[in-house]
Amino acid sequence: MMILIRLEKHELMSRTKYLLNVISRPCITGVWTQRCRKCSSRIQNRQDQSFSVTTPIFYVNAAPHMGHLYTCVLADAVARYHRLKGKQILFSTGTDEHGLKIQQAADQSKESPALFTTNVSRTFKEMFDCYNISYTDYIRTTEQRHFTTVQKFWTELETRGYIYKGSYEGWYSVSDEAFLTEVDVTEVVNKKGEKIMVSKESGNPVTWMKEDNYMFKLSEFSDRLHKWLDTGVIQPAMFTPIAQHWLSNPQDLSVSRPSSRLSWGIPVPGDSSQTIYVWLDALVNYLTVCGYPSLEQTWPADVQVIGKDILKFHAIYWPAFLMAAGLELPKKIFCHSHWLINCVKMSKSLGNVVDPMVVKEKYSAEVFRYYLLREGVPHSDGNYLEEKAMEYVNSDVVNTFGNLLSRCTASAINRDQIYPRKDQDTYISSITAADRETFENIEILIDTVEGYYQDMMMYKAIESIMSYLRWANGLVENHKIWDLAKSDQEADVLHLKCVLHLALDTLRVSGILLQPVIPNISERLLNRLGIPKDRRTFECARKPYLNSPELPLGPNEGVLLKRLKIN
Ligand code: MSP
Repeated sequence: MMILIRLEKHELMSRTKYLLNVISRPCITGVWTQRCRKCSSRIQNRQDQSFSVTTPIFYVNAAPHMGHLYTCVLADAVARYHRLKGKQILFSTGTDEHGLKIQQAADQSKESPALFTTNVSRTFKEMFDCYNISYTDYIRTTEQRHFTTVQKFWTELETRGYIYKGSYEGWYSVSDEAFLTEVDVTEVVNKKGEKIMVSKESGNPVTWMKEDNYMFKLSEFSDRLHKWLDTGVIQPAMFTPIAQHWLSNPQDLSVSRPSSRLSWGIPVPGDSSQTIYVWLDALVNYLTVCGYPSLEQTWPADVQVIGKDILKFHAIYWPAFLMAAGLELPKKIFCHSHWLINCVKMSKSLGNVVDPMVVKEKYSAEVFRYYLLREGVPHSDGNYLEEKAMEYVNSDVVNTFGNLLSRCTASAINRDQIYPRKDQDTYISSITAADRETFENIEILIDTVEGYYQDMMMYKAIESIMSYLRWANGLVENHKIWDLAKSDQEADVLHLKCVLHLALDTLRVSGILLQPVIPNISERLLNRLGIPKDRRTFECARKPYLNSPELPLGPNEGVLLKRLKIN
């Protein structure tokens, strides 16, 4: 008997997995998040009380674009997921305002660097607010608290003997604010027919530099960095060998520039003739927001989200600085790829930058969030095509999600405007065994989605939820709820209630699960279903909603989503 039950459960799970197109796998955090294949019991996740996530801080030399927004939306979805799990969140973002690149941009705009950076920083903040980025700290590197932190951190490195006076001779890219070696650069012919040297990685021009400055003993950390990278801290794992490659030729790092060349920055403590290298200054923002030097409860970060262009700074320089200062290292660096526009890199000079504020006017911030997380995959570049984006939104969000809700809540179908119970006999007689199995296995969907959220594979989480919603749409169609709604026969009434219960419950669970991705749409959906605010956590998604009488739906606040017009 025991064996039979086990086999049945195993069988049910396989069918649902087929629907979800997933297989059990260990979560990259090292904890199993899905059901055990053999006994189907759920294995508990780590139950930390707090969670901290950071985004890079954004250069203010130009206005924000969709690439910047993507980094933030990804971090926001993770923060929202952990908040729903009841954790205290530290989520920092902000702007990187020092350095030659910003100094030059301010000069070009004929504004003082202080005014220029304040204006552009505000633009970033406004965009993040429009897109519902739930940051808990917005840091600007021009703030006094950051100035103090950077100087303290520098003094710590110096006191520990990791900074020495030296000189640097080599290439420098102002656009990347990066020092490059001979192997990192190549000669190209520019549009004017001139031969120039550029960075192989970014394609940005480089200039030869020879100057006295302070050096950081980066080469001393090669072995420890190797070991750290071997732990799989960089995710997805495909980025690890890229980072390891940078350790093949250990060299020290220049960490200051003469103030005569770079004045817009933080002076080296005790030597105002030198300005601290902008990347050291910028990376320390992660400690400023934690209240360095007292870091209890706030550091290390659980995850630091970055784009692949800044991997070297976060996978090599940053951990080396932290090791030198005797601090803990981040638990995870999550690296994502880039957005291209019609297969070409987005750049201000090419004039092909997508402005999130323009997109928002066209098809709302929420659905753009959805698109970014659904279409953006961390391991390969995404190509933004406006028509495709709109089609996605129409087919997934409007047709699948919105239509299911409008069908199940339409007054012609759901006449009493209730969240109906299902009569058990009708359930057995009217719903096929396969559909019952799918419905009863919705907990596997929740486990699957949680696993993906923890691994930050948002697109997989969304696809799993959509599979379930497509199934529920099919159910509603197969059972011809319009015909059932026209009948007053008791059997038909019970049949309709039963189908509506299954569809509404799928919507309820999906709405709860989608909160990290589309918080506003999910909120409106859950309001319409009449789900109380305190019953919207992932744990509540697992519990049956109706134990006793049928409950009323919430107020009808109009169409949840409108189809986008594709020109
Ligand atoms: N200021 C540095 C980061 C310092 S963090 C201590 C910087 N700023 S940035 O504005 O150039 O980039 C910020 C983030 O935006 C990076 O993660 C970068 O990868 C991301 N993106 C910029 N363009 C992008 C795309 N086209 N696509 C996706 N993300 C991209 O680097």
